[in-house]
Amino acid sequence: MSETILFVDDEQNILNALQRVFVDSNLQILTTSSPLQAIDICRSKPVAVVVSDNMMPEMRGVELLAELKKVSPQTVKIIMTAYADLSTALQAINSGEVYRFIVKPWQEQELVKAISEGIARSRILAALERENEAILRSLAQTIELKDLYTRGHCERVAGYALTIAGKLDLPEPLAREIRHGSWLHDCGKIGVPETILNSSGKLSDQVFATIRLHPDWGASVAEQASLSVTVVNIIRFHHERYDGNGYPLGLQGEDIPLEARIVAVADVFDALTTDRPYKQAFTFEQARKILTELKGPHCPA
Ligand SMILES: [Fe+2]
Repeated sequence: MSETILFVDDEQNILNALQRVFVDSNLQILTTSSPLQAIDICRSKPVAVVVSDNMMPEMRGVELLAELKKVSPQTVKIIMTAYADLSTALQAINSGEVYRFIVKPWQEQELVKAISEGIARSRILAALERENEAILRSLAQTIELKDLYTRGHCERVAGYALTIAGKLDLPEPLAREIRHGSWLHDCGKIGVPETILNSSGKLSDQVFATIRLHPDWGASVAEQASLSVTVVNIIRFHHERYDGNGYPLGLQGEDIPLEARIVAVADVFDALTTDRPYKQAFTFEQARKILTELKGPHCPA
């Protein structure tokens, strides 16, 4: 596997020198003199390690790396700084923004060692992420066992939600959280009896009131598990409606977090296109038409 390393420095001769150090390695070396371009690169492809200069006219290195933490949390960040500016680098390390620093002018051996340790760390982060995903996905499958009619529902909702996220050009970390939230959106159903979930008759007000509790139940479990705000929002607000007639809070329009609106559309689309106890599946084309008619009141499709 050939990892990508990105060097950011406003001086082209430094970028050239850095590139020469790794000319014989099997790493993919990218360079840019623009921090803004570095953000775009990390948004568009997986980058194992970013090494950034600190003093640059467009943006300081520590600011760039803090920004990259949002765009690409799994990229390992290294700051390269002059000795005089060491306190800034140390501050960035202490606040968790930066993995380590390299003092300019660099010792080649030290630079190569820092990069290879950075790569090892990025592999560990990627492995942890895969493990987290496997746990979250199997949790979602456990919930589906309760409800015979929704087998495969969470995976399909995740697929539709990611298609929407892709069209909206949302950054990869947010898309990943939307995938996790889609898997878990109905996790509160674990507290709703099977007889209710699988009932084909008309629901009494009391039964419906129980079902309406599942977003809050699920969200509080997700909060206790320290899942991200995005995931918690999806679980809590996936039954809100654009016109304010949803639940649990009756939020309206853009007061409903974007991630929850996306998953709400995906959830409704999957409900329409699969058999349920109370109805047969619509075709994709019929479902698309229904969603278009609902545009505005029910969802921002
Ligand atoms: Fe739900």
